[in-house]
Amino acid sequence: MKQRTLYVETMGCQMNVLDSELVVGQLRAEGYELTSDMLGADVVLLNTCSVREHAEDKVLSRLGSLKKPKSARDDMVVGVIGCMAERDPDGIVKKMPHVDLICGPGELNKIPALVDDVRRTRNRAVALSQAMSRRSTAIERSLEYDSVEALDLSREQGVDGRSSQAYVRVQRGCDKFCTFCVVPFTRGPERSRPPGQIVNEAQMLIDRGVREITLLGQTVNSYVSQEEGRAVRFSDLLARLDSLDGLDRIRFVTSYPGDFGDDILEAMRDLPKVCEYLHLPVQSGSDAVLKRMRRQYTAGQFVDLIGRAREYVPDLTLASDFIVGFCGETDAEFDETVALVERSAFKNIFVFKYSQRPGTVAEKRSDDDIPDAVKRDRNIRLLKLQEEVSIATNRTMIGRAVEVLVEGHSKRAIKAQEAEQTRGEEATAEASGQLVGRTRTDRIVVFPGEISLAGRLVMVRVTAATALTLHGELATSGNGDETPFQRGPIALRIGG
Ligand code: SAH
Ligand code: F3S
Repeated sequence: MKQRTLYVETMGCQMNVLDSELVVGQLRAEGYELTSDMLGADVVLLNTCSVREHAEDKVLSRLGSLKKPKSARDDMVVGVIGCMAERDPDGIVKKMPHVDLICGPGELNKIPALVDDVRRTRNRAVALSQAMSRRSTAIERSLEYDSVEALDLSREQGVDGRSSQAYVRVQRGCDKFCTFCVVPFTRGPERSRPPGQIVNEAQMLIDRGVREITLLGQTVNSYVSQEEGRAVRFSDLLARLDSLDGLDRIRFVTSYPGDFGDDILEAMRDLPKVCEYLHLPVQSGSDAVLKRMRRQYTAGQFVDLIGRAREYVPDLTLASDFIVGFCGETDAEFDETVALVERSAFKNIFVFKYSQRPGTVAEKRSDDDIPDAVKRDRNIRLLKLQEEVSIATNRTMIGRAVEVLVEGHSKRAIKAQEAEQTRGEEATAEASGQLVGRTRTDRIVVFPGEISLAGRLVMVRVTAATALTLHGELATSGNGDETPFQRGPIALRIGG
């Protein structure tokens, strides 16, 4: 019998990447084979993001392009999963009646059954968590949580080619309710996962060859779990993971600037595997805007926090998120954001034009009153400023040797290779020889090397820098003895 094929497209955050691995893992176990041909696939699943309207528009356009192939083949299944499914199931069906599967991010363990249902009955199958998010007791929440979470172990890790790195979920949902944000509505209340489960999952991944783990949560630093009547904080969790043999690096995203305890900074300073990197979205440099966003900290408190973090962890790099053109944002308020970016020396920032989301407090109480042209202008100004900052800080890395975990061929090299191949020629040695990896501080490094280095830690000497990328060459030990590899636990922590 011909194997059934599955196409999964992932939009949005790392949480969605992990969710997609989980879905692929389950359907592979049912005999499905992954394909990159969306229109020809037997099952098409779009794992969606609702954070900005633009992301939802993209899903609708994808779904539109599936209308024709779907009407030509009665056995095709088209599904919308993730945040948009949870946020607006009725809207999806109204606009795109050919969608036959809808599944929220908290119900992904039901995917094989839902696909089966659709195949058998040709009726639409729907699974949403709305009932769960209204349930009030912590015990009910955590029971529900466990039934979904057990699945993380059966994920198809590394679908996107990152076989030496893996995501591990430590927390679901969010309780912060920032006035602009839809996440608490799509992913439900904050639930921290039991530490034992997290450690077991990390161990399983290490046994499969994973060397770097990124812990995921909407506000990871507010992680807290109970064990034998005692609280386990995020810093305690980091300490447990740090003691696992075979693991080289631990990262975590995303941190919330409001509850960032010094215990986490101490853990970052003292635990050798915890990387010198923080993603700390600040959103705005204006106290008035932060208040309207209900962020629960001031710009001054944020500046204090990053100052303290850099004292504890001298090599630290920081990334952040900003929203420009939030309701009522004046030129003077935006200037405060500019000033914050000027003084913070972020490694990189993500800048988003405010997008009004249905159901949020901002949508109910405030006007989306900043014209799009102003949002666009502020967006460009902030990115331009950050580009200058990034180039300046990256240039300080030239001449230094940095530890790089090799991911594989660099995308540009792959593109060059594909271009060569479509012309019917062999890929040039140079095009195929560019590798890409990351430093502990999350800097991207491109350098020539053999693909057999993928998944290994190597030392690279930086020779050039752009705003987003360091370029370099494998470092030698300096005595003619070529030993660019780092073995065993990392004792060295050089620069980037
Ligand atoms: N704590 C989460 C935040 C999820 S949303 C995390 O970082 O994983 C990611 C980013 O999207 C936010 O930090 C914010 O900068 C941006 N964002 C969220 N809602 C938005 C909206 N309505 N319009 C524009 N950007 C938004
Ligand atoms: Fe969204 Fe704020 Fe939580 S940005 S994910 S409500 S911390």
